[in-house]
Amino acid sequence: MAAPNKLLLLIIIIMLAAASSVHSATTERCNNGSCVPAERAALLSFKAGITGDPDNRLVSWQQRHHDCCRWSGVTCSRRTGHVVKLDLRYDYPIPIYDYLSYPEDYSLRGQVSSSLLALRRLKHLDLSGNIVLGDAKPMPEFLGSLEGLTYLNLSNMGFHGRVPPQLGNLSKLVQLDIHGYINTGRLYSDDISWLARLQSLQHLDMGSIDLTRVLDWVHAVSALPNLVALILDACWLKDNNVPSSVLHHNFTLLEELDLSYNLFKGLAASYWFWDVTSLNRLNLEHGELSGPLPNELGNLTLLGTFNIGNNNIQGMIPATTQAMCNLRSLNLNFNIISADITEVIDRIPNCSWNKLQELSLDYADITGATLQFVSNLTSLTMLDVSDNQLSGSVPVEIGALTNLIHLYLGYNNLSGVISEDHFVGLMNLKSLDLSDNNLELNIDSHWVPPFNLHRASFSSCHLGPQFPKWLQLQGSINDLDISNTGLVGRIPDWFWTTFSETRYLDISLNQLSVFDDPFKEVYEDKYSSVDMGLHNNDSISMVMKGQVLEYGENIVYLMSIDLSCNSLTGEIPEELSSLAALISLNLSSNLLSGNIPYKIGNLRSLESLDLSKNKLGGEIPRGLSDLTYLSYLNLSYNNLSGRIPSGHQLDTLNTDDPASMYIGNPALCGHPVPMQCPGPPTNKGPTRLPEDGLSQMDFLLG
Ligand SMILES: *[C@@H]1O[C@H](CO)[C@@H](O)[C@H](O)[C@H]1NC(C)=O
Ligand SMILES: *[C@@H]1O[C@H](CO)[C@@H](O)[C@H](O)[C@H]1NC(C)=O
Ligand SMILES: *[C@@H]1O[C@H](CO)[C@@H](O)[C@H](O)[C@H]1NC(C)=O
Ligand SMILES: *[C@@H]1O[C@H](CO)[C@@H](O)[C@H](O)[C@H]1NC(C)=O
Ligand SMILES: *[C@@H]1O[C@H](CO)[C@@H](O)[C@H](O)[C@H]1NC(C)=O
Ligand SMILES: *[C@@H]1O[C@H](CO)[C@@H](O)[C@H](O)[C@H]1NC(C)=O
Ligand SMILES: *[C@@H]1O[C@H](CO)[C@@H](O)[C@H](O)[C@H]1NC(C)=O
Ligand SMILES: *[C@@H]1O[C@H](CO)[C@@H](O)[C@H](O)[C@H]1NC(C)=O
Ligand SMILES: *[C@@H]1O[C@H](CO)[C@@H](O)[C@H](O)[C@H]1NC(C)=O
Ligand SMILES: *[C@@H]1O[C@H](CO)[C@@H](O)[C@H](O)[C@H]1NC(C)=O
Ligand SMILES: *[C@@H]1O[C@H](CO)[C@@H](O)[C@H](O)[C@H]1NC(C)=O
Ligand SMILES: *[C@@H]1O[C@H](CO)[C@@H](O)[C@H](O)[C@H]1NC(C)=O
Repeated sequence: MAAPNKLLLLIIIIMLAAASSVHSATTERCNNGSCVPAERAALLSFKAGITGDPDNRLVSWQQRHHDCCRWSGVTCSRRTGHVVKLDLRYDYPIPIYDYLSYPEDYSLRGQVSSSLLALRRLKHLDLSGNIVLGDAKPMPEFLGSLEGLTYLNLSNMGFHGRVPPQLGNLSKLVQLDIHGYINTGRLYSDDISWLARLQSLQHLDMGSIDLTRVLDWVHAVSALPNLVALILDACWLKDNNVPSSVLHHNFTLLEELDLSYNLFKGLAASYWFWDVTSLNRLNLEHGELSGPLPNELGNLTLLGTFNIGNNNIQGMIPATTQAMCNLRSLNLNFNIISADITEVIDRIPNCSWNKLQELSLDYADITGATLQFVSNLTSLTMLDVSDNQLSGSVPVEIGALTNLIHLYLGYNNLSGVISEDHFVGLMNLKSLDLSDNNLELNIDSHWVPPFNLHRASFSSCHLGPQFPKWLQLQGSINDLDISNTGLVGRIPDWFWTTFSETRYLDISLNQLSVFDDPFKEVYEDKYSSVDMGLHNNDSISMVMKGQVLEYGENIVYLMSIDLSCNSLTGEIPEELSSLAALISLNLSSNLLSGNIPYKIGNLRSLESLDLSKNKLGGEIPRGLSDLTYLSYLNLSYNNLSGRIPSGHQLDTLNTDDPASMYIGNPALCGHPVPMQCPGPPTNKGPTRLPEDGLSQMDFLLG
């Protein structure tokens, strides 16, 4: 009869944006239907250096398949039959975190063989994304002898050490991308004067390469007259890597400059890039820049994307910017703008208002009592004004922003009522954050939202007391926070199924109950609270019963429920088994009765299951043996009976004392408990997992 007096539910997830594109390698047929034998031999020799090809990308590379021009990733010239392109790029798959956690399951491994030198006509070489192929070894010097190359992409390959100056011999290069992958160690360069010889270069990406010791790198790159894109993010660059005097450069074509994630502090008006008037994209985010934005910004009238977020910029957008009519994306977040929102908007050039798509002004010390300006910014796809001191109501005009995908208004002092009208035209909305304001959502329970959200936070909004029914139509949600929203009663049955794929769920600080029999019990003075935490950054901490486990960025998909030591009564809800991402479930020391749901075998990610010290009866479902990742199981001290299932995972559980997983269930028989079962073992039985109950995770297990 006791109510659940304490529930602790932690579901913690990290998400990495999965940037991915489909990769297709085309092979052209040679005129004579067969490739140059010496080149075929060179490719086979390259393949011999590859010791791991988990994705079978080189499976078509066989001596007996004579025409190497038809091998995957290989392209020959139609005219000469020579190999001109080798594309073995590994584009990050979805989900990217699988790739980053287990790169050896995807990336080519081995060494990059110098046999490639036999491909004398090679123009295009792309080995990028094979994170373990570089094997923390230096980038091979021989690549500098592939003199026909116009395109070289060695980004994210896990090389480290010095960038070979021999690359300066590749005088035909148009695109060079050697972006490092810092997780495996640093690539560095202490002298980039070799770049000056790449006079055809249009695109240069040396991001994540340590250039600390390069003095005057601007001078080195400014000798490249054709440069269109220069990417030097995260190169540990400081002010002393830049010449103090105003520099004369030859950049007349430069459109993209990325100096983000460096260590520059000053934002001198004399900085060379303020007079590169051809710039279209300028990225200076995540630096240490301080002081006001210089008036010279207004000279960059072609600028479409300006990102200076996450610095220490002080003060307003300068008044000189009124001719920047091409602005599409403006990010000033995490700076100290210290102004009223209406003034900030007025400083955004009004000739760009109806073109502006992305506006990030979050955490920028902005005040103000009206968001009416949205009616003038008609093209917005993203608006982020969260974490400021905005007050007043949310104008209903926001519902006319039909292109809006992301709307973040959280952590302000907004007040008033949000109704269906605020969302009426937002059919493209994917992310919505209204949390930590004084907002009330007054929405009809029959409302059909025009959108299909992926992330939503309503934390501290007034939603209750009834569970918002329209959420049932938002099954694509990955992140949902409805904590502290005044919800009362039992979590509806559809909840667990609708949100079974949800990775982050916070329903804490309400008066909700999870299991049956809530009404006669919950209004005792205790109520159930379901509490979860999220750190949306590169590391997560999982707080479990006072235990804090730190995970690095490699563990990115985690779900854990700990409801142990409560007074939970009733049966384990079958719906729980639809939480396909669940990794750890602890219901130990409660009063749970009934059978263990046979669908428990659906929890394919489960690594730990503790149901000990309850009143569970019946047989142990055989589906348990299908839990391929299970490494901890405890069913002790219940009232389970019958044969202990065996086979698959259950035989591999790692414990010194296997019988203690089942101890305290006098009617259980078979290995590992002492009691013998009557009759031979059988595979049949009502507890077997039905085939159609298998989740989509199955194919991952193959
Ligand atoms: C195919 O033709 C090209 C150009 O005529 C030639 O260089 C190459 O050796 C030929 N390959 C074979 C296998 O005959
Ligand atoms: C290099 O390859 C990566 C993917 O691995 C891609 O994102 C990048 O755009 C490529 N660089 C160039 C210059 O094409
Ligand atoms: C390639 O570059 C290196 C260093 O920059 C130089 O010593 C070497 O002679 C060059 N090789 C060729 C074939 O030009
Ligand atoms: C710019 O180009 C001119 C002519 O090509 C050249 O003489 C000059 O050295 C270049 N300037 C810089 C900074 O490289
Ligand atoms: C750039 O802007 C500054 C200040 O607004 C101005 O004095 C200067 O003449 C401009 N330079 C060019 C090349 O337009
Ligand atoms: C745009 O701003 C300029 C300068 O601030 C002002 O003179 C002009 O009237 C504004 N135009 C519109 C349509 O608001
Ligand atoms: C929209 O822009 C017009 C023209 O500049 C201005 O008069 C009006 O006040 C703006 N509306 C809002 C709500 O800011
Ligand atoms: C929040 O807004 C209310 C009016 O809606 C106001 O009374 C209150 O002072 C504001 N609080 C802060 C911290 O600005
Ligand atoms: C992640 O966020 C938590 C909480 O905001 C913070 O304590 C921690 O230092 C952050 N970790 C990193 C690597 O930024
Ligand atoms: C489950 O919770 C109980 C009680 O808090 C604890 O003793 C036990 O170690 C937990 N089981 C696991 C697998 O963490
Ligand atoms: C244990 O299970 C048996 C059936 O296997 C049942 O008869 C008995 O009442 C159960 N005991 C308790 C305490 O629930
Ligand atoms: C299972 O739980 C019981 C009760 O807490 C404990 O005595 C036993 O050692 C546990 N078994 C394992 C394998 O952890």
